[in-house]
Amino acid sequence: MIVAGVMSGTSADGVDVAVVSIQGRGSYLSFDLLFHHHTEYPKEVRKAVLAAMNASSISVAELSRLNFRLGELYAEAVHRAQKKAGSPKLDLVGCHGQTIYHQGTSAPYLGKKIACTWQTGEGAVVAARLNVPVVSDFRPADMAAGGKGAPLVPLLDYAIFRARNKGRIVQNIGGIANLTAIPAGAGPDAIIAFDTGPGNMVIDRLMQMLFNRPYDGGGKVARQGKVLQPVLEGALGGPYFKLRPPKTAGREEFGSEYSQAFLRRCGKAANADVIATATALTATSMAHALKRFVLRHGEYRDWVVSGGGTQNATLMEMLNQEAVNLGLSLKHSDEFGVPSQAKESVAFALLAYQTWNGQPGNVPSATGAQRPAVLGKISYV
Ligand SMILES: Nc1ncnc2c1ncn2[C@@H]1O[C@H](COP(=O)(O)OP(=O)(O)O)[C@@H](O)[C@H]1O
Ligand SMILES: [Mg+2]
Repeated sequence: MIVAGVMSGTSADGVDVAVVSIQGRGSYLSFDLLFHHHTEYPKEVRKAVLAAMNASSISVAELSRLNFRLGELYAEAVHRAQKKAGSPKLDLVGCHGQTIYHQGTSAPYLGKKIACTWQTGEGAVVAARLNVPVVSDFRPADMAAGGKGAPLVPLLDYAIFRARNKGRIVQNIGGIANLTAIPAGAGPDAIIAFDTGPGNMVIDRLMQMLFNRPYDGGGKVARQGKVLQPVLEGALGGPYFKLRPPKTAGREEFGSEYSQAFLRRCGKAANADVIATATALTATSMAHALKRFVLRHGEYRDWVVSGGGTQNATLMEMLNQEAVNLGLSLKHSDEFGVPSQAKESVAFALLAYQTWNGQPGNVPSATGAQRPAVLGKISYV
């Protein structure tokens, strides 16, 4: 089956499309990545997406329009990727959508405790434009089964990175950073997975505020600054880092308000020092999460990174230093045949394939769900 996976993450930078050929079932599942293509959101779309995320007030008309507009945009992104891949006939599309709200932990609401999530980008529009069935809205079924709805990438991580003789930690650095730890020779039940905290989100927001740029290209600004140790240590003492896994984070935890408070704590420091400190927060919080929640439960050798954060050379140097201290060897997912920007979109191709075949896509040990669940909703043509 030829499946296109479509991912647009919390960074709201754009849309990644992976065209993947998938065969087999269960442990015999195998796949080849045929093509990966990234389309940036047009400026005004990015602005609307960021405004909708975790907004305390926005009109339902606006949300409804955004849902249909993103459907059009996803269809165009898939079409572009398909053409660049030599126009293979697509059998199925898996479209994650844009998360505009995610509350992984249940809290009282109108007399009942609920957890909830919302991904937007209308699957019916994507299906109609491409004339291909679409699986979308993957997270709610896991949450209805008692899970946190995230992370969903462990299915893919397990398929690619499991090894009989060595434990591997797979770390994606998107807006939020998440890891999947797979002990040597482990079954899917032994996987540990959770969001470690900010990936690029805080760096991006501060770059926007201080330099009017969307991100720190190559980590050049961070390289010129020095890390403000008291600010870093204060931030590492924050409540999210103490929570035990499974746990998920988003703009609700590390969005605009968080970055503003972080900036206040930096006082009169030079702008480059603020960015260096935010970059150190990403690297150090990952290392702390490993020490606290992963390494004491097993032996691991590789730390495999992916996501947009791998383009930040300063962040990668900091991570490399942490890896040396932890006795891990830092690797890129590219070395395993999955370009680091493509990984999450490949995951949603695989998840759609599972759903199409009536198979579960969540890994209960990763999301905290009580059972495996078939994920998503299907829009037929
Ligand atoms: N050349 C680069 N230099 C530094 N950071 C980059 C570069 N390219 C991308 N990034 C970072 O990666 C982010 C996008 O990563 P991505 O994996 O797509 O995250 P998400 O899944 O949250 O969308 C950007 O917002 C930016 O912070
Ligand atoms: Mg992205």
